[in-house]
Amino acid sequence: QPIVETVEYIKAGKLFDSVAGRYVDGAVLVVEGARIRSVEGKGFPIPDGAKVIDLSDDYVLPGLIDCHTHLTARADKYDEINAFRETPFIAAINGVVNAKKTLDAGFTTVRDVGSPPFAAVDLRNNINEGYIPGPRIVASGPAISITGGHGDLNNFSPEVRPMLYPNDRDFQIADGEQQVQQTVRAQVKYNVDVIKILASGGVLSKGDQPGAPQYTLSELKMAADTAHQAGRKIAAHAHGALSIKWSILAGIDSIEHASLADDEDIRLAKEHGTYFVMDIYDDDYILQEAPKFGLPKEQIEKERGVGQKQRETFRRAWKAGVKMAFGTDEGVYPHGDNAKQFHYMVQFGMTPTEAIQAATVHAADLIGRSDDVGQLTAGHYADLIALKADPLQKIEVLTSVPFVMKGGAVTKDTR
Ligand code: ARG
Repeated sequence: QPIVETVEYIKAGKLFDSVAGRYVDGAVLVVEGARIRSVEGKGFPIPDGAKVIDLSDDYVLPGLIDCHTHLTARADKYDEINAFRETPFIAAINGVVNAKKTLDAGFTTVRDVGSPPFAAVDLRNNINEGYIPGPRIVASGPAISITGGHGDLNNFSPEVRPMLYPNDRDFQIADGEQQVQQTVRAQVKYNVDVIKILASGGVLSKGDQPGAPQYTLSELKMAADTAHQAGRKIAAHAHGALSIKWSILAGIDSIEHASLADDEDIRLAKEHGTYFVMDIYDDDYILQEAPKFGLPKEQIEKERGVGQKQRETFRRAWKAGVKMAFGTDEGVYPHGDNAKQFHYMVQFGMTPTEAIQAATVHAADLIGRSDDVGQLTAGHYADLIALKADPLQKIEVLTSVPFVMKGGAVTKDTR
């Protein structure tokens, strides 16, 4: 069979080198199929009649990566009562709609960390097959929770047996090392890329406290060891200091939220090379918008207890040298608004360059895809965004991305 050469040339006015953290002027990206074949210098002779994409007036950056999304959720429907009303298919419908919004916002890769079994896996597969548009997805299953924990449905009558418990193997609720091990293995069986575990209580759940640990150190260790044995990374939702400490000591790869990390947590995270993924935009949305659609007082009060502290923790942890990757908890706020968080990352201690690195090269490292995404060099996917204004001068310009390419194909161009 003849090999049809599908080479295109992208002229980049300013190409952001996400590893070095600076622009290169006038580079030419040679793209073959979905990947970058080479990056050539200014004045590279492009063959006559070749396909050229002219971004020579633009700032060209690697496609952005969000390490904490819930594509199958809806931001205006937090109420757990919906679990009793909705069919499982709603998650898939949400996922199809939200995947497109996310890609259009310039996020060409996401790590999706919590969805009904196994909506994110199906979404990933269908996007990879080209059946529906969306970002590359590193998919988890349901977030694993203790009984009565952040991932359980609490404060209902004991007469109500949620459909989440069709039998004892619901992929989500697990108590004790043996159940945790079995649940991780069961998720791996259904082809998740990553495990998500709920190490502490949460804000948007009922009847629990973000500051309080839920899993024990030995349960977390079993989860991490089982995931790693299967070649999967594991992310832990942890707001409170003790749950963060136990997660790090258990060998978890990233701490999600990390809101109330203390100095010892920060020291341990550095020592173990554990990433913090801190969703520091959400506080705005939860306090300003969520009450309008009836978020109960219990959750609003819990948010007041962590929101601003989390931003201060972000500042301390970054200053201390903790590794950080961009993650927003997309789905808490409306899908596609992911880049609103950059403003706060800069306000609370990162330079714009560092914030973009957190959403490109460092995010790729955390999700284990450094060879594929996060930088625009030979061998990587041709996943990129282009902007008319310089995000290093004004980070907020990332909230409206006019040009998106994923795998060498233009998926959006409104320049
Ligand atoms: N899913 C998280 C929880 O319910 C959201 C926390 C959002 N608040 C924040 N300040 N980051 O715990």
